[in-house]
Parts: sequence; C-alpha cells; structure tokens
Amino acid sequence: MSRSSLAFHWQGVDWQLLADKALWHPGEKTLFIADPHFGKSASFRSAGIPVPEGATHDDCQRLSLLIERTSAIRLVILGDFFHNAASRSSSVHRVLTDWRKRHTDLQVELVRGNHDHAAGDPWPDLKVRVHPSSWTWKGFCCAHTDQKPSSHPVLSGHVHPSVKLSVQGRRVYRLPCFWFRGQVSCTLPSFGTFTGSYTVEPSREDCLIATDGHSIMNVTQWVA
Ligand SMILES: [Fe+2]
Repeated sequence: MSRSSLAFHWQGVDWQLLADKALWHPGEKTLFIADPHFGKSASFRSAGIPVPEGATHDDCQRLSLLIERTSAIRLVILGDFFHNAASRSSSVHRVLTDWRKRHTDLQVELVRGNHDHAAGDPWPDLKVRVHPSSWTWKGFCCAHTDQKPSSHPVLSGHVHPSVKLSVQGRRVYRLPCFWFRGQVSCTLPSFGTFTGSYTVEPSREDCLIATDGHSIMNVTQWVA
C-alpha cells in the first residue's frame, strides 16, 4: 500500500517522513529539507546548457504545499540553498520572493553548506537566518555534512542519498532515500528536483527509507 508519509520514531521524537523529501517534526511544527540547490537549472542555462526552465518554481511550489499542508511555523534548510553564484538570477530571485511572500510568518533557518560558501547567502528580502556551520536545536545538531563525532544526533544533507533496489533479481530502481545511521544521524535526500545522488551502501545498523516523490516506504530489508 502506498502512502505519502511514514511515521518513524527516532531519538525520542515521533517524526513523519514525507514522500516529497522532507522531514516533519509534528511536536515543534518544524519542517526540514536539505539541498534544494535553487537556481541550478538557471546556472546551466547561463552556461549555454539547454536544460528546461521551471525547476526552482516547481520546487518552491512543492515546498509551499508542504508548508501549508503541515501548517509549519519553522523551516530548517540543511545547506546548499543556491547551487552556485550563477544561480542568483533575477528570475530565481523573483520566484523565491514570491514564495516568501506566501509564507510571511514562517521562520526560515539555513545551515550553510559547501555550495553556499561559493554561491553566497540568500537575498536579505527572503528573511532567512543563516548559521555559518552547525546549529544545535532541541537536542539535535543541524548541519550540512554529518558531524563526527557529535554530542547530539545529527540531521544533515550533502550526499543526496539514494538506494538501488532490484525486483526479482532483474530491473534496478534507484530512489532518493532518508539514511538513518543507527541513532547517530539522519541524512535527508536532496529536496531539489534537478540534483544528482549518491548510492548508499548501508551497514548493518542503518535504516533506509526510500521515496519516489509520491509514496514512501522502509526498504532496509530489500537492500543487500
Ligand atoms: Fe547538495
């Protein structure tokens, strides 16, 4: 049976993992995403690579629907807000400004990722509070990369985890996934549509929750 969210108890919190590649903390009404890479397709086009327009608009629309569906009061972005400096086009600015106007009361926190260091921070009118590296929140270490060692369980992004699944030993699917490393860390899939991924090779204590963007399920037992 397919479903668009999955309840997952981890580190004392009843999380909801959302098929649209976001992590939801119902008790704190807080939504987490990682690696939106806003403006990536715009940066490709500025380099003469003919990729389709609209990825940032579509991703902002998906994000708006998540915010409205959950009634989130806080959004935490775990790094890589922009893809690079060329992502900061006037059209991307307009899309993000329109998105922000739709959620004026939303508190938005960004933990800088490796792409942010080169791309620069979000424009001031987007009202995003920027954390230079990791940010400790409610007993969790919010970071772009997995922090080792960390005195708190880590919520991170950066690697864009995905999982390969074979069905009846034949076709292979690769799907974005949430990657729980025991009680130590949770790495979110990249929120951005126009991003690559890294295939996880899980260890025994890991748990992988895969999503196709519409339905989400625990696939740990099907991964070698
Ligand atoms: Fe990234």
